Amino acid sequence: MIKLNLIAFYILTIFSSTAFAHTLPSPEKLEDLINNRPSSIKVYEPHMSKAMHPIEVEYVGFPAEVVLSKVFGPAWGSVDGDYEFRALDGYASRVSPSLIKKYHPYLVFQRKDGRAFKVENVHQHQKDISLGPYYLVWDNAKHKELLQEGSYGWPYQINEIVISHTIPEALVPNKKDKDAFIKEIKLTQKYCLTCHQLNGLGGSKYPNDLSESAKKMGESEFIEWVTSPDKVKENSTMPAINKRLPEKERHEIALEIYHYLMAF
Ligand code: HEC
Repeated sequence: MIKLNLIAFYILTIFSSTAFAHTLPSPEKLEDLINNRPSSIKVYEPHMSKAMHPIEVEYVGFPAEVVLSKVFGPAWGSVDGDYEFRALDGYASRVSPSLIKKYHPYLVFQRKDGRAFKVENVHQHQKDISLGPYYLVWDNAKHKELLQEGSYGWPYQINEIVISHTIPEALVPNKKDKDAFIKEIKLTQKYCLTCHQLNGLGGSKYPNDLSESAKKMGESEFIEWVTSPDKVKENSTMPAINKRLPEKERHEIALEIYHYLMAF
C-alpha cells in the first residue's frame, strides 16, 4: 500500500511539477507519503477565543515543514514567493516560507479529544464550520506575539497548496512604480485578498473586484465598512480588520488600502 501511494505520488509530481500546485491527499495517505506519525499541538483557538476569554484546543496533524518539503522538494524554504493555502470555500491565505521556518505551524486534520473537527467563528457570526480536510495552526501558546494576529494565517478547509509570487505585477496599479506600493499590496493581500479579488488575483470566497467595489463607496463609507462591517450590515460574515490592533492602527490600515484601491 505504501509503495503504491509513493508511486502514484511520483507520477503525480512529474505531471504537475510545472504547475506548482498540489492537492493534498487524505491524512492516511499523507502519513505514508511523509513517513511521519501525526502528533499533537495545543493552541489558543483564535476563531473561538475572545481577547479576555481564551479557549484552548489540542489538534492532531503534521508539521507543515515536513509536508512542504515532501510536496515541493527539499528546497521548499527558498522558493521565490509565498505558499498560498487554498480552501474548499474559495478562501486563499498566503504565508511566507520565512514565517513557516520561524514558527513551525502544523497542518492538522482532527481534534485530540475526538470531538467534531469544527469551530464557531465568533468574529464572522458563523457556527459549526468544518475545518477539514486540513487546517493550518500556529503555536500561539508558545509564541505569544502570534496571539495579536488573531486568526490571520489560520486558513481552514485547505485542500491545495500553491506557490505564488510575493508581489504579482497585476497588483501594481496601472504600471506605476512597484516599490511605491509594496506596503499597501501586502496589507491588501493579508486583510482582503483572502476572500476578494483584484485584477483577477486573490481568493474566490467573495470574488468581486475590490477596486471596482471600493470606487462605488466614498472614503468614510469604505472605512466604516472595513473596520466594523457588522455595524453596517447585521450579522455580516465579512470580518473587521483585526480588532486586536489599536483603533488608530486599524483606521490607518483601512485608509492605506482605500488609497491603494483608488490608484487603479
Ligand atoms: C473572510 C472573507 C472576507 C475578507 C477577509 C474580506 N471580506 Fe469583504 N466581503 C466579504 C463578504 C462575505 C461580503 C459580502 C457582505 C456580507 O455578506 O456581509 C463582503 C463585501 C465587501 C464589499 C462590498 C462588495 C459589494 O458587494 O459591492 C467590499 C467593498 C469589501 N467587502 C471590501 C473588503 C476589504 C477592503 C477587505 C479587506 C480590508 C475585505 N473586504 C475583507 C468577505 C470578506
